[in-house]
Amino acid sequence: MMSPFESLIIFKFLHLPLLLLFLQPQPSLSLSLCRNTCNNIPINYPFAIDDGCGAPQYRRMLNCSTDLFFLTPSGNYKVQSIDYDKRTVIIYDPAMSTCSILQPHHDFVMTDIQSAIIPPSPDTVFVLVNCSIDSPVLNHYKSLCYNFSGHSCEELYGACTSFKLFHLLSNTTPPCCFTGYNTVKFMSMNILDCTHYTSVYNTDNLVGVGPLDWLYGIKLSFSVPDTGCGRCAKSGGTCGFDVETEGLVCICSTTTNSTRECGSVADTGESQRPFTLLQTFGLILVPVFCMILR
Ligand SMILES: *[C@@H]1O[C@H](CO)[C@@H](O)[C@H](O)[C@H]1NC(C)=O
Ligand SMILES: *[C@@H]1O[C@H](CO)[C@@H](O)[C@H](O)[C@H]1NC(C)=O
Ligand SMILES: *[C@@H]1O[C@H](CO)[C@@H](O)[C@H](O)[C@H]1NC(C)=O
Ligand SMILES: *[C@@H]1O[C@H](CO)[C@@H](O)[C@H](O)[C@H]1NC(C)=O
Repeated sequence: MMSPFESLIIFKFLHLPLLLLFLQPQPSLSLSLCRNTCNNIPINYPFAIDDGCGAPQYRRMLNCSTDLFFLTPSGNYKVQSIDYDKRTVIIYDPAMSTCSILQPHHDFVMTDIQSAIIPPSPDTVFVLVNCSIDSPVLNHYKSLCYNFSGHSCEELYGACTSFKLFHLLSNTTPPCCFTGYNTVKFMSMNILDCTHYTSVYNTDNLVGVGPLDWLYGIKLSFSVPDTGCGRCAKSGGTCGFDVETEGLVCICSTTTNSTRECGSVADTGESQRPFTLLQTFGLILVPVFCMILR
């Protein structure tokens, strides 16, 4: 028979290691603090989907719900891809017209910060369709319209099932305009007086390619803030920021952050890891054996 004192000791010895298991820092969890993928699209600096991760300038720009979305004042746009070498993001406006669908116009509006750090690329062309003859882009601002890679916007009325309708209904070719982001930025669709729009990217590569095969969507060109993230990433950390001060934070593990880089003794969670699994088993088995052998 064991005395009550002996059972207490066994109780303590069995629970201590379990407790220690839970107390151990888990370095693998640092990944879940900042999710690095959304629907197979890699999420790296400067982007993030969790607050406190990535660069503060890009805070709350992405949302990973059913898909990855780019958030703007005019709506959430589906992200199709992110190219970290070329620093581009391809987004798609599900409410915009394309060669096959006709949808009522809808402004494309970005915040001032977005316009500054992640504007549409120069090879993204906005196509204003079915413009009224009073439209500023046909009058005072005529010079804002241009042709790209040998294409004129009139081609759309002939080639696209969607835009053919304008020609059929009016038996004329309503004015249209190929223009850059700045036109759309400074004049809303109402001011532009065009009923529909679409956008095409990679326009430099579309010489001799018909509108049916153009790439519809918006290519954004982002800049990476120079805040010293390179040093943190090189040391194995994930760049983030303090959600209150927005100052750079190098996230080393779930329990350790640093201001610059991970790696010094004070910075690593791992050096404080008290027990390995084997040691824990030892801790359970040794007292049990001692009891049995007595
Ligand atoms: C480390 O920084 C991240 C991002 O700001 C924050 O969510 C986390 O709570 C911080 N952890 C510690 C231990 O300070
Ligand atoms: C994320 O995007 C989805 C789809 O547009 C939207 O339903 C949801 O409310 C968004 N969440 C946030 C936090 O913006
Ligand atoms: C084209 O624009 C005119 C006004 O300029 C408008 O009355 C007409 O409904 C538009 N066509 C379509 C199909 O929306
Ligand atoms: C674009 O091309 C069309 C058809 O070739 C031409 O009529 C028009 O003047 C051109 N526009 C500009 C701005 O060069």
